[in-house]
Amino acid sequence: MHLTRRDLIKGAAAVTAFPSFARAATGTIVLEPRQTKFQLLPEAYPASDLWLFGDSTPGPEIRVAQGARVERRLVNSLPQATSVHWHGIRIDNAMDGVPGLTQEAVAPGETFDYSFVAPDAGTYWYHSHNQSTEQVARGLYGALIVEENDAPEVDSEHVLVLGDWLLEQNGQLSGDFASRHERSHSGRTGNYLTTNGTAGEILEARRHERMRLRLINGATARVFELGLFGLEGWVVALDGMPLERPEPLTSQVVLAPAQRVDLIVDVTAQGGDEAYLVRIDGEQAVAQATFKVAGEASVTRRAAPAALPPNHEPALGSLAEATRVRLLMEGGAMGGLQAAIFNGERRTFRQLVQDNQFWAFNGEVGLTDEPLVNARIGETVRLEITNDTVFPHAMHLHGQHFREVEAGGDLGPMRDTILVSGRETREIAFVASNPGDWLFHCHMLSHQDAGMKTWMRVRA
Ligand code: C2O
Ligand code: CU
Repeated sequence: MHLTRRDLIKGAAAVTAFPSFARAATGTIVLEPRQTKFQLLPEAYPASDLWLFGDSTPGPEIRVAQGARVERRLVNSLPQATSVHWHGIRIDNAMDGVPGLTQEAVAPGETFDYSFVAPDAGTYWYHSHNQSTEQVARGLYGALIVEENDAPEVDSEHVLVLGDWLLEQNGQLSGDFASRHERSHSGRTGNYLTTNGTAGEILEARRHERMRLRLINGATARVFELGLFGLEGWVVALDGMPLERPEPLTSQVVLAPAQRVDLIVDVTAQGGDEAYLVRIDGEQAVAQATFKVAGEASVTRRAAPAALPPNHEPALGSLAEATRVRLLMEGGAMGGLQAAIFNGERRTFRQLVQDNQFWAFNGEVGLTDEPLVNARIGETVRLEITNDTVFPHAMHLHGQHFREVEAGGDLGPMRDTILVSGRETREIAFVASNPGDWLFHCHMLSHQDAGMKTWMRVRA
Protein backbone atom coordinates (compact mmCIF):
# COMPACT_ATOMS: atom_id res chain seq x y z
CA MET A 1 0.00 0.00 0.00
CA HIS A 2 1.30 3.45 -0.80
CA LEU A 3 -0.05 6.44 1.05
CA THR A 4 0.09 9.94 -0.27
CA ARG A 5 0.23 12.97 1.92
CA ARG A 6 -3.45 13.67 1.20
CA ASP A 7 -4.37 10.17 2.37
CA LEU A 8 -2.43 10.83 5.52
CA ILE A 9 -4.19 14.05 6.31
CA LYS A 10 -7.60 12.53 5.58
CA GLY A 11 -6.84 9.42 7.53
CA ALA A 12 -4.87 11.01 10.32
CA ALA A 13 -7.00 9.52 13.08
CA ALA A 14 -6.92 6.03 11.64
CA VAL A 15 -3.25 6.28 10.91
CA THR A 16 -2.26 7.04 14.46
CA ALA A 17 -4.07 3.88 15.57
CA PHE A 18 -1.41 1.81 13.82
CA PRO A 19 2.04 1.54 15.30
CA SER A 20 3.56 3.03 12.17
CA PHE A 21 1.86 3.51 8.85
CA ALA A 22 5.03 3.53 6.79
CA ARG A 23 6.11 0.12 7.97
CA ALA A 24 3.25 -1.25 5.91
CA ALA A 25 5.53 -1.68 2.92
CA THR A 26 7.30 -4.96 3.54
CA GLY A 27 11.05 -4.91 3.91
CA THR A 28 11.30 -1.14 4.14
CA ILE A 29 13.18 0.10 7.14
CA VAL A 30 11.83 3.38 8.29
CA LEU A 31 13.77 6.20 9.87
CA GLU A 32 11.18 8.42 11.44
CA PRO A 33 12.26 11.69 12.99
CA ARG A 34 9.63 12.88 15.42
CA GLN A 35 8.96 14.87 18.55
CA THR A 36 9.22 12.78 21.66
CA LYS A 37 9.96 12.93 25.37
CA PHE A 38 13.26 11.60 26.57
CA GLN A 39 14.74 11.49 30.06
CA LEU A 40 18.04 13.27 29.48
CA LEU A 41 18.42 14.76 32.96
CA PRO A 42 18.44 12.53 36.05
CA GLU A 43 15.08 11.06 37.09
CA ALA A 44 14.39 13.82 39.63
CA TYR A 45 14.01 16.25 36.71
CA PRO A 46 11.33 16.34 34.03
CA ALA A 47 11.89 14.63 30.70
CA SER A 48 12.99 16.75 27.74
CA ASP A 49 11.00 17.33 24.58
CA LEU A 50 13.43 16.28 21.88
CA TRP A 51 13.33 15.50 18.19
CA LEU A 52 14.68 12.01 17.73
CA PHE A 53 15.01 9.31 15.10
CA GLY A 54 12.99 6.92 17.26
CA ASP A 55 12.59 6.67 21.03
CA SER A 56 16.02 7.54 22.28
CA THR A 57 19.17 9.50 21.66
CA PRO A 58 21.35 8.75 19.81
CA GLY A 59 19.08 7.46 17.04
CA PRO A 60 19.05 3.79 16.10
CA GLU A 61 22.52 2.56 15.25
CA ILE A 62 22.86 1.63 11.60
CA ARG A 63 25.44 -1.09 11.09
CA VAL A 64 26.33 -2.71 7.80
CA ALA A 65 29.19 -4.69 6.28
CA GLN A 66 31.63 -2.82 4.05
CA GLY A 67 30.28 -2.67 0.52
CA ALA A 68 26.70 -3.31 1.61
CA ARG A 69 23.74 -1.14 0.71
CA VAL A 70 21.99 1.01 3.28
CA GLU A 71 18.31 1.58 2.63
CA ARG A 72 16.14 3.75 4.80
CA ARG A 73 12.81 5.37 4.16
CA LEU A 74 12.80 8.77 5.83
CA VAL A 75 9.27 9.41 7.08
CA ASN A 76 9.12 12.96 8.30
CA SER A 77 6.91 13.18 11.38
CA LEU A 78 8.45 16.48 12.46
CA PRO A 79 6.71 19.84 12.27
CA GLN A 80 9.56 21.05 10.00
CA ALA A 81 11.03 19.94 6.70
CA THR A 82 14.09 17.73 7.10
CA SER A 83 16.67 15.56 5.33
CA VAL A 84 19.34 13.08 6.35
CA HIS A 85 23.04 13.40 5.62
CA TRP A 86 25.24 10.30 5.95
CA HIS A 87 28.33 12.04 7.21
CA GLY A 88 31.66 10.81 5.85
CA ILE A 89 30.28 8.22 3.44
CA ARG A 90 31.72 8.35 -0.10
CA ILE A 91 28.12 8.38 -1.22
CA ASP A 92 26.15 8.63 -4.43
CA ASN A 93 25.60 12.41 -4.68
CA ALA A 94 21.80 12.16 -4.97
CA MET A 95 21.72 10.48 -1.54
CA ASP A 96 23.86 13.07 0.27
CA GLY A 97 20.88 14.74 1.91
CA VAL A 98 21.68 18.41 1.32
CA PRO A 99 18.59 20.51 0.62
CA GLY A 100 19.19 23.02 -2.13
CA LEU A 101 22.12 21.06 -3.51
CA THR A 102 21.25 17.36 -3.79
CA GLN A 103 17.54 17.15 -2.96
CA GLU A 104 14.53 19.09 -1.80
CA ALA A 105 13.95 19.19 1.93
CA VAL A 106 11.34 16.59 2.87
CA ALA A 107 8.16 18.32 4.08
CA PRO A 108 6.29 17.18 7.20
CA GLY A 109 4.33 14.04 6.38
CA GLU A 110 6.41 13.31 3.29
CA THR A 111 8.92 10.54 2.72
CA PHE A 112 12.23 10.13 0.94
CA ASP A 113 13.94 6.83 0.14
CA TYR A 114 17.66 6.81 0.79
CA SER A 115 19.60 3.98 -0.77
CA PHE A 116 23.37 3.93 -1.08
CA VAL A 117 26.38 1.67 -0.87
CA ALA A 118 28.87 2.17 1.97
CA PRO A 119 32.18 1.60 0.18
CA ASP A 120 34.53 2.29 3.10
CA ALA A 121 34.62 0.61 6.49
CA GLY A 122 34.67 2.88 9.51
CA THR A 123 32.83 4.97 12.06
CA TYR A 124 30.39 7.38 10.47
CA TRP A 125 27.19 9.04 11.56
CA TYR A 126 23.97 10.38 10.20
CA HIS A 127 22.21 13.60 11.07
CA SER A 128 19.61 16.04 9.90
CA HIS A 129 20.91 18.45 7.28
CA ASN A 130 18.01 20.88 7.20
CA GLN A 131 17.81 23.71 9.73
CA SER A 132 20.53 21.65 11.27
CA THR A 133 21.51 24.02 14.07
CA GLU A 134 18.07 23.44 15.47
CA GLN A 135 17.49 19.88 14.33
CA VAL A 136 20.83 18.46 15.47
CA ALA A 137 20.59 20.41 18.75
CA ARG A 138 17.17 18.82 19.29
CA GLY A 139 18.68 15.36 18.89
CA LEU A 140 18.48 14.29 15.25
CA TYR A 141 21.61 12.15 14.89
CA GLY A 142 22.84 8.60 15.26
CA ALA A 143 25.80 6.30 14.56
CA LEU A 144 26.44 4.68 11.20
CA ILE A 145 28.98 1.87 11.48
CA VAL A 146 30.48 0.14 8.46
CA GLU A 147 32.25 -3.02 9.55
CA GLU A 148 35.53 -4.22 8.11
CA ASN A 149 35.35 -7.58 6.40
CA ASP A 150 38.52 -8.33 8.32
CA ALA A 151 37.84 -6.68 11.68
CA PRO A 152 40.56 -6.31 14.32
CA GLU A 153 40.53 -8.74 17.21
CA VAL A 154 39.06 -7.15 20.29
CA ASP A 155 37.08 -8.52 23.21
CA SER A 156 34.38 -5.88 22.95
CA GLU A 157 33.32 -2.80 21.11
CA HIS A 158 31.50 0.31 22.26
CA VAL A 159 30.08 3.08 20.14
CA LEU A 160 30.14 6.30 22.18
CA VAL A 161 28.13 9.16 20.73
CA LEU A 162 28.95 12.42 22.48
CA GLY A 163 26.20 14.99 22.86
CA ASP A 164 26.03 18.55 24.15
CA TRP A 165 22.66 19.97 25.17
CA LEU A 166 21.65 23.45 26.19
CA LEU A 167 19.01 22.79 28.82
CA GLU A 168 16.90 24.58 31.39
CA GLN A 169 16.22 23.21 34.87
CA ASN A 170 12.84 22.03 33.59
CA GLY A 171 14.56 19.72 31.15
CA GLN A 172 13.63 21.77 28.10
CA LEU A 173 16.07 22.91 25.48
CA SER A 174 16.82 26.52 26.10
CA GLY A 175 17.64 29.51 24.08
CA ASP A 176 17.11 30.47 20.54
CA PHE A 177 18.44 28.27 17.75
CA ALA A 178 19.13 31.38 15.68
CA SER A 179 20.82 33.26 18.50
CA ARG A 180 22.91 36.15 17.24
CA HIS A 181 25.45 35.63 19.93
CA GLU A 182 25.91 31.94 19.15
CA ARG A 183 26.06 32.58 15.44
CA SER A 184 28.70 35.28 15.75
CA HIS A 185 30.80 33.61 18.48
CA SER A 186 31.61 29.94 18.96
CA GLY A 187 28.23 28.44 18.16
CA ARG A 188 25.63 26.77 20.35
CA THR A 189 27.60 25.18 23.15
CA GLY A 190 25.53 23.37 25.73
CA ASN A 191 25.55 22.96 29.49
CA TYR A 192 24.76 19.25 29.71
CA LEU A 193 27.11 16.74 28.18
CA THR A 194 26.17 13.17 27.44
CA THR A 195 27.54 9.93 26.09
CA ASN A 196 24.90 7.81 24.40
CA GLY A 197 22.18 10.04 25.81
CA THR A 198 23.23 9.95 29.46
CA ALA A 199 25.55 12.05 31.59
CA GLY A 200 26.46 8.91 33.52
CA GLU A 201 27.40 6.35 30.89
CA ILE A 202 28.61 3.25 32.77
CA LEU A 203 29.98 0.22 30.97
CA GLU A 204 31.43 -3.03 32.23
CA ALA A 205 34.96 -4.14 31.57
CA ARG A 206 37.50 -6.70 32.75
CA ARG A 207 41.12 -6.03 33.59
CA HIS A 208 43.27 -6.58 30.47
CA GLU A 209 40.24 -6.56 28.25
CA ARG A 210 40.91 -5.13 24.80
CA MET A 211 38.10 -2.85 23.60
CA ARG A 212 37.42 -0.89 20.48
CA LEU A 213 35.88 2.49 21.21
CA ARG A 214 34.21 4.33 18.39
CA LEU A 215 33.77 7.98 19.44
CA ILE A 216 31.51 10.30 17.51
CA ASN A 217 31.15 14.00 18.28
CA GLY A 218 27.49 14.80 17.64
CA ALA A 219 27.64 18.24 19.27
CA THR A 220 26.68 21.31 17.28
CA ALA A 221 29.67 23.35 18.42
CA ARG A 222 31.70 21.81 21.25
CA VAL A 223 35.25 20.63 20.70
CA PHE A 224 35.96 17.70 23.03
CA GLU A 225 39.44 17.08 24.44
CA LEU A 226 39.47 13.47 25.53
CA GLY A 227 41.88 11.29 27.44
CA LEU A 228 42.14 7.86 29.04
CA PHE A 229 42.40 6.90 32.68
CA GLY A 230 42.94 3.26 33.66
CA LEU A 231 43.04 2.46 29.97
CA GLU A 232 45.96 2.33 27.61
CA GLY A 233 45.27 2.77 23.97
CA TRP A 234 45.96 3.63 20.39
CA VAL A 235 44.24 5.76 17.82
CA VAL A 236 43.50 3.43 14.92
CA ALA A 237 41.22 5.54 12.73
CA LEU A 238 40.15 9.16 12.27
CA ASP A 239 36.86 10.14 10.65
CA GLY A 240 36.37 6.50 9.69
CA MET A 241 39.67 6.18 7.88
CA PRO A 242 42.31 3.80 9.28
CA LEU A 243 45.71 5.22 10.20
CA GLU A 244 48.58 3.49 8.43
CA ARG A 245 50.08 2.86 11.87
CA PRO A 246 48.13 2.90 15.12
CA GLU A 247 49.28 5.81 17.23
CA PRO A 248 49.70 5.42 20.99
CA LEU A 249 47.32 7.75 22.76
CA THR A 250 49.63 9.32 25.28
CA SER A 251 47.90 12.57 26.08
CA GLN A 252 44.64 13.72 24.57
CA VAL A 253 42.69 13.42 21.43
CA VAL A 254 40.78 16.43 20.16
CA LEU A 255 37.39 15.77 18.63
CA ALA A 256 35.80 18.69 16.80
CA PRO A 257 32.09 18.64 15.94
CA ALA A 258 31.37 15.80 13.47
CA GLN A 259 34.80 14.22 13.88
CA ARG A 260 35.21 10.58 14.89
CA VAL A 261 38.06 8.61 16.35
CA ASP A 262 38.43 4.85 16.70
CA LEU A 263 40.51 3.74 19.66
CA ILE A 264 41.74 0.31 20.62
CA VAL A 265 42.29 0.31 24.37
CA ASP A 266 43.43 -2.22 26.95
CA VAL A 267 42.05 -2.03 30.47
CA THR A 268 44.91 -1.44 32.91
CA ALA A 269 42.78 -0.58 35.96
CA GLN A 270 42.47 -3.25 38.67
CA GLY A 271 39.35 -5.32 39.22
CA GLY A 272 37.06 -3.35 41.55
CA ASP A 273 38.37 -0.03 40.23
CA GLU A 274 37.00 2.20 37.54
CA ALA A 275 38.54 3.25 34.27
CA TYR A 276 37.41 6.31 32.35
CA LEU A 277 37.21 8.04 29.09
CA VAL A 278 37.73 11.57 30.40
CA ARG A 279 36.94 14.96 29.03
CA ILE A 280 39.43 17.68 29.83
CA ASP A 281 37.55 20.66 31.10
CA GLY A 282 39.99 23.42 32.01
CA GLU A 283 42.10 22.04 34.83
CA GLN A 284 39.74 19.16 35.46
CA ALA A 285 39.27 15.74 33.96
CA VAL A 286 35.59 14.76 34.02
CA ALA A 287 34.26 11.25 33.31
CA GLN A 288 32.72 11.13 29.85
CA ALA A 289 32.22 7.35 30.16
CA THR A 290 32.97 5.08 33.12
CA PHE A 291 34.13 1.48 32.89
CA LYS A 292 33.48 -0.59 36.02
CA VAL A 293 36.27 -3.12 36.10
CA ALA A 294 35.50 -6.61 37.43
CA GLY A 295 37.37 -9.84 36.80
CA GLU A 296 40.17 -10.40 34.33
CA ALA A 297 40.38 -11.17 30.65
CA SER A 298 42.18 -14.41 29.82
CA VAL A 299 44.94 -12.68 27.84
CA THR A 300 47.08 -10.44 30.04
CA ARG A 301 49.86 -9.24 27.76
CA ARG A 302 49.25 -7.92 24.33
CA ALA A 303 51.18 -6.47 21.48
CA ALA A 304 50.16 -3.13 19.99
CA PRO A 305 47.21 -3.60 17.63
CA ALA A 306 47.81 -3.96 13.92
CA ALA A 307 46.54 -1.25 11.58
CA LEU A 308 42.95 -1.63 10.46
CA PRO A 309 42.61 -2.89 6.89
CA PRO A 310 42.90 0.14 4.59
CA ASN A 311 39.98 1.57 2.67
CA HIS A 312 40.59 2.07 -0.99
CA GLU A 313 39.89 5.69 -1.68
CA PRO A 314 41.71 6.87 -4.82
CA ALA A 315 45.29 7.97 -4.14
CA LEU A 316 46.33 11.62 -4.39
CA GLY A 317 48.05 12.68 -7.57
CA SER A 318 51.14 14.88 -7.71
CA LEU A 319 50.92 17.77 -5.29
CA ALA A 320 53.24 19.85 -7.45
CA GLU A 321 50.80 19.66 -10.35
CA ALA A 322 47.64 19.92 -8.29
CA THR A 323 45.07 22.65 -8.90
CA ARG A 324 45.45 25.28 -6.19
CA VAL A 325 42.50 26.98 -4.60
CA ARG A 326 42.30 29.39 -1.68
CA LEU A 327 39.61 29.83 0.88
CA LEU A 328 39.66 32.93 3.05
CA MET A 329 37.39 32.70 6.07
CA GLU A 330 36.36 36.01 7.58
CA GLY A 331 33.84 37.48 9.95
CA GLY A 332 32.27 36.77 13.30
CA ALA A 333 32.56 38.80 16.45
CA MET A 334 35.90 40.65 16.74
CA GLY A 335 36.70 39.57 13.18
CA GLY A 336 36.87 42.95 11.49
CA LEU A 337 34.85 41.99 8.41
CA GLN A 338 33.77 45.24 6.72
CA ALA A 339 31.49 44.00 3.96
CA ALA A 340 30.66 40.95 1.87
CA ILE A 341 28.39 39.78 -0.92
CA PHE A 342 25.13 38.28 0.26
CA ASN A 343 22.39 37.18 -2.16
CA GLY A 344 24.29 38.88 -4.97
CA GLU A 345 24.51 42.24 -3.23
CA ARG A 346 27.29 43.97 -1.42
CA ARG A 347 26.37 44.36 2.25
CA THR A 348 28.15 46.09 5.04
CA PHE A 349 28.82 44.07 8.15
CA ARG A 350 26.10 46.00 9.93
CA GLN A 351 23.59 45.03 7.22
CA LEU A 352 24.71 41.43 7.41
CA VAL A 353 24.15 41.43 11.15
CA GLN A 354 20.55 42.53 10.53
CA ASP A 355 20.12 39.40 8.41
CA ASN A 356 21.76 37.34 11.16
CA GLN A 357 24.70 36.57 8.85
CA PHE A 358 28.24 36.90 10.15
CA TRP A 359 30.73 34.95 8.08
CA ALA A 360 32.15 35.11 4.58
CA PHE A 361 34.14 32.72 2.44
CA ASN A 362 36.21 34.59 -0.15
CA GLY A 363 34.05 37.64 0.42
CA GLU A 364 30.71 35.88 -0.04
CA VAL A 365 28.15 34.85 2.52
CA GLY A 366 26.39 31.50 2.06
CA LEU A 367 26.10 29.44 -1.10
CA THR A 368 27.27 31.06 -4.31
CA ASP A 369 26.14 30.31 -7.87
CA GLU A 370 29.63 29.22 -8.83
CA PRO A 371 31.40 26.48 -6.91
CA LEU A 372 34.60 27.15 -4.98
CA VAL A 373 36.19 24.26 -6.84
CA ASN A 374 35.11 22.98 -10.24
CA ALA A 375 37.18 19.87 -10.85
CA ARG A 376 37.10 17.10 -13.36
CA ILE A 377 37.14 13.61 -12.02
CA GLY A 378 40.63 12.46 -11.14
CA GLU A 379 41.94 15.98 -10.61
CA THR A 380 44.02 16.58 -7.51
CA VAL A 381 43.13 19.76 -5.68
CA ARG A 382 45.08 21.62 -3.00
CA LEU A 383 42.99 23.93 -0.93
CA GLU A 384 44.60 26.46 1.35
CA ILE A 385 42.28 27.50 4.15
CA THR A 386 43.04 30.76 5.92
CA ASN A 387 41.00 31.33 9.01
CA ASP A 388 41.10 35.09 9.44
CA THR A 389 38.63 34.97 12.33
CA VAL A 390 39.28 34.58 16.04
CA PHE A 391 37.21 31.38 16.33
CA PRO A 392 38.03 27.78 15.47
CA HIS A 393 36.04 26.20 12.64
CA ALA A 394 35.49 22.51 11.89
CA MET A 395 35.47 22.41 8.11
CA HIS A 396 33.74 19.40 6.57
CA LEU A 397 33.91 18.25 2.96
CA HIS A 398 31.08 16.08 1.74
CA GLY A 399 31.55 13.08 -0.55
CA GLN A 400 35.25 12.43 -0.27
CA HIS A 401 38.04 12.50 2.27
CA PHE A 402 41.10 14.74 2.13
CA ARG A 403 44.54 14.77 3.64
CA GLU A 404 46.23 17.68 5.30
CA VAL A 405 49.36 18.94 3.57
CA GLU A 406 51.54 19.55 6.59
CA ALA A 407 54.40 21.98 6.85
CA GLY A 408 57.29 20.42 4.96
CA GLY A 409 54.90 18.72 2.53
CA ASP A 410 54.11 15.59 4.53
CA LEU A 411 50.59 14.30 4.17
CA GLY A 412 48.41 13.81 7.22
CA PRO A 413 45.82 11.08 7.69
CA MET A 414 42.63 11.02 5.65
CA ARG A 415 39.83 12.99 7.25
CA ASP A 416 36.50 14.49 6.36
CA THR A 417 36.53 17.31 8.92
CA ILE A 418 39.46 19.53 9.89
CA LEU A 419 39.57 21.83 12.88
CA VAL A 420 41.16 25.13 11.88
CA SER A 421 42.02 27.34 14.84
CA GLY A 422 41.54 31.11 14.91
CA ARG A 423 44.04 33.04 12.77
CA GLU A 424 45.51 29.84 11.41
CA THR A 425 46.21 28.68 7.84
CA ARG A 426 46.04 25.02 6.91
CA GLU A 427 46.15 23.23 3.60
CA ILE A 428 44.28 20.14 2.50
CA ALA A 429 44.53 18.05 -0.66
CA PHE A 430 42.11 15.63 -2.22
CA VAL A 431 41.40 13.85 -5.46
CA ALA A 432 38.10 14.83 -7.01
CA SER A 433 36.86 11.28 -7.19
CA ASN A 434 33.16 11.35 -6.57
CA PRO A 435 31.02 13.11 -9.17
CA GLY A 436 28.44 15.62 -8.06
CA ASP A 437 27.96 18.84 -6.12
CA TRP A 438 29.35 18.67 -2.63
CA LEU A 439 28.95 20.98 0.30
CA PHE A 440 32.02 22.27 2.15
CA HIS A 441 31.07 23.99 5.38
CA CYS A 442 31.73 24.67 9.00
CA HIS A 443 30.28 21.98 11.27
CA MET A 444 29.81 24.48 14.06
CA LEU A 445 26.27 24.51 12.82
CA SER A 446 25.37 28.04 13.89
CA HIS A 447 28.27 29.22 11.72
CA GLN A 448 27.02 27.23 8.77
CA ASP A 449 23.65 28.92 9.08
CA ALA A 450 25.30 32.31 9.38
CA GLY A 451 27.23 32.09 6.12
CA MET A 452 30.00 29.51 6.46
CA LYS A 453 29.27 27.26 3.55
CA THR A 454 30.36 26.80 0.01
CA TRP A 455 30.36 23.94 -2.48
CA MET A 456 32.50 22.04 -4.92
CA ARG A 457 31.63 20.43 -8.19
CA VAL A 458 33.21 17.21 -9.44
CA ARG A 459 32.46 16.69 -13.13
CA ALA A 460 32.13 13.08 -14.25
CU1 C2O B 1 27.88 16.34 9.01
CU2 C2O B 1 27.22 18.85 5.94
O1 C2O B 1 27.51 17.60 7.50
CU1 CU C 1 32.73 27.78 12.19
